[in-house]
Amino acid sequence: MSELRHFLDIDKFDGGTLRDILDLGISLKNSWIGGKRERPLDGRTLVMIFEKPSTRTRVSFQVGMQQLGGMVVVMSEHESQLGRGETPADTAQVLSRYADAIMIRTGNPQKLQDLAAYATVPVINGLTDKSHPCQIMADIMTFEEHRGSIAGRVVTWSGDGNNVAQSWIHAAVKLGFTLRLACPDTLQPPQNILDWAAAEGGNIVVSDNPEEAVYEADLVVTDTWVSMGDKDADMRRKLLLPFQVNAHLMACANADALFMHCLPAHRGEEVTDDVIDGPQSAVWDEAENRLHAQKGILSWCLG
Ligand code: CP
Ligand code: NVA
Repeated sequence: MSELRHFLDIDKFDGGTLRDILDLGISLKNSWIGGKRERPLDGRTLVMIFEKPSTRTRVSFQVGMQQLGGMVVVMSEHESQLGRGETPADTAQVLSRYADAIMIRTGNPQKLQDLAAYATVPVINGLTDKSHPCQIMADIMTFEEHRGSIAGRVVTWSGDGNNVAQSWIHAAVKLGFTLRLACPDTLQPPQNILDWAAAEGGNIVVSDNPEEAVYEADLVVTDTWVSMGDKDADMRRKLLLPFQVNAHLMACANADALFMHCLPAHRGEEVTDDVIDGPQSAVWDEAENRLHAQKGILSWCLG
């Protein structure tokens, strides 16, 4: 079972394998855009389980699987027996008899781990409260298409130290770039992940000063101040206001710094219209690359 090619989190991979997956995604993107219609996953099925809402993840996985020749079954928690207490372990064993891979978006990262432990097909993380690795694969692909290798570059995160930020930490360690996180004290990423990054020799700096953090940044990234499932929305908005990515903050970064956001954006909160719609923004390419990066992930997982 351990030989299954799960895609659970970026910290589970070495940099070389992440590169291989990214290269696979780029190659599939180039073929598709060049008009080649290969069907390497002909006859294969992906089951997707959504316990939280989604636009990009759902559509990009479905379209990606179809472009590769495969098909998709989508289940939401409340329309399935998972929502009535059937265990992830039992669900994993049943779904493995029908499908060739399982993708799950869930709050509880333990559910992802349980599915992976009991599935006999690859399991893909479509977001948990702790990470969003498919997003960061698309983000790296996007940065590199615009600016070349991310190794040795400076990426600044300004905002909540949330699931997306945590996958950025994993990627910084594995792909060798500097990550500066500007977050309010109480919304920094968990200490255990910062300790892991330090032990791995990662170049990760956490502060509460966004202007200092973006100095010489090649990429500025943020995300919603209120993630799915967060309850303390008013408090978060108040704490995070100084971390907004606006024209002033972008002006403190390198002149050619890119701006990225996993979307959905809350315009006027974590990012202003002039930045997200401005010349430094790569958000639409980033959203498109969910499709291409995940085609790489699916092809890698399904061998
Ligand atoms: N960025 C992202 O995962 O978007 P969705 O929530 O729409 O899937
Ligand atoms: N941090 C956000 C990401 C959405 C794609 C959330 O978890 O809601």
